[in-house]
Amino acid sequence: MESVLAGLLPAPELAPQRLHKAMRYAVLGGGKRVRPLLAFAAAELTSAPARRVEIAASAVELIHAYSLVHDDLPCMDDDDLRRGKPTCHVEFDEATALLVGDALQTLAFQLLAHQELCDAPATQLEMLKHLAIAAGSRGMAGGQAIDLDSVGKSLSVPELEFMHIHKTGALIRAAVKLGTLCGEKLDKPGEAALEHYAKCIGLAFQVVDDILDAEAPTATLGKTAGKDAEQNKPTYVTLLGAATARDFADELHHDALAALEIFGERALRLRQLADFVVKRQY
Ligand code: IPE
Ligand code: IPE
Ligand code: MG
Ligand code: MG
Ligand code: MG
Repeated sequence: MESVLAGLLPAPELAPQRLHKAMRYAVLGGGKRVRPLLAFAAAELTSAPARRVEIAASAVELIHAYSLVHDDLPCMDDDDLRRGKPTCHVEFDEATALLVGDALQTLAFQLLAHQELCDAPATQLEMLKHLAIAAGSRGMAGGQAIDLDSVGKSLSVPELEFMHIHKTGALIRAAVKLGTLCGEKLDKPGEAALEHYAKCIGLAFQVVDDILDAEAPTATLGKTAGKDAEQNKPTYVTLLGAATARDFADELHHDALAALEIFGERALRLRQLADFVVKRQY
């Protein structure tokens, strides 16, 4: 993914150089690449050609990278450390970071519009639609709006779940969906099972992010630990306590694995990624 993304991003020598350098800074050299890995693992169920999956996985990762650049801005979480490096607005400046987000987002859609992606235009349109909805006000951006609006408030568990499913779950689900759409069509039960898997690990991902924010050290996380408590954000840890939050993540992990049973051995990578999402240390 590192070399694929490096090849798809505008070259640093190309004008406007500062913007292109900042875009590359925000995307390359860090990050677990969980969403691209999920796209590749899901694509194994539909025998999708690797080149197509690379493009779809990159599109999702670019939206994710943009969401992190904006999430770190002073008007949002005001963070100065990301992926073990100064955040984009600290390394460059706020206006550049804003534009990095804008440009990464449009680059993602430009990639999905690429001819190499699909021989069926209808499927390609479906990919564009899935990613647009996942990134928009009914997906990640909407979840982020709820997040900002919740500072200092105590949400109910269903309200917190709604926020997490949107701000983080939506893009994870899109990664799985786009991966499968690169290959042969899944049957209805397969589609539903995979959708359930993605929903479970999408929520689990943010529950674990909340736990790590409260428990892991900054050096391991590569981002400032303890930010949620410092900023008075409602999280699964503040609402349920760390032990119950961990139990909930384990329950989601279990449900995600159960959903994969119908795929047998072909879902090995998806199983491994579900394990990683809940057992990760950063
Ligand atoms: C962090 O995502 C932000 C959330 C959605 C919780 P990741 O933990 O996937 O961040 P990187 O890409 O590995 O840096
Ligand atoms: C961010 O959630 C989710 C995004 C859409 C970026 P957080 O604010 O908890 O992510 P981190 O902890 O800064 O990575
Ligand atoms: Mg945030
Ligand atoms: Mg944040
Ligand atoms: Mg967090």
